[in-house]
Amino acid sequence: MTTKLTWHGHATLGLETGGYQLVIDPFFSGNPAADITADAVQADFLLVSHGHGDHVGDAAAIAKRTGATIISNFEIASWFGAQGVEKTHGQHQGGGHQHPFGYLKLTLALHGSMLPDGSNGGNPCGFLLTTNDGHKLYFAQDTGLFGDMKLIGEEGLDLAILPIGDNYTMGPDDALRAIKLLEPKFVIPIHYNTWDLLAQDANVWKEHVERETQTKVIVLKPGESFSI
Ligand code: NI
Ligand code: MN
Repeated sequence: MTTKLTWHGHATLGLETGGYQLVIDPFFSGNPAADITADAVQADFLLVSHGHGDHVGDAAAIAKRTGATIISNFEIASWFGAQGVEKTHGQHQGGGHQHPFGYLKLTLALHGSMLPDGSNGGNPCGFLLTTNDGHKLYFAQDTGLFGDMKLIGEEGLDLAILPIGDNYTMGPDDALRAIKLLEPKFVIPIHYNTWDLLAQDANVWKEHVERETQTKVIVLKPGESFSI
């Protein structure tokens, strides 16, 4: 069984694992880096890390069209439910649940989470997924560096998805420090080059990371995939 991850630009990721299709932070409309439109997205599950518009994105529209289940923190899951999304699943930081696609735990994230209409989006999160064949994937999504990444790394990560854009999240230097705590086999950078404010050279960062750590950096262009 392979697990295939596709970057759609910004923090939007498609994940195919065990025959299920997931999209993490499905932001297509208004995402200048997106390689496809929201209408073209197929999904069984949508994972939303926090309430900001560039992460909530098209989740409600995709869920209503495809029947996908939205998984997020309890506040955001309830907010989608109030908008007529039929299937939602609320969790919270530190809590895991066995979903059909694997065991999903919500992790800490240092960030904000206000929803686009000003509602309380609870606390932001990242995702730690153990696939049904035992691969561990950590999606940090929007966060600053925090020392408890070491605890996440102790689970033994095959792949970490880390922001490097700076300003709203970790920049390249703190993302390198995060890798030293997480010690994943592979890392994919996200949340950069969407707008000029988030401009970064991922290939320069890759050289730096691979010189200082054992982790291999996979730099994707929007629409490209990586399989484990
Ligand atoms: Ni955000
Ligand atoms: Mn963001």
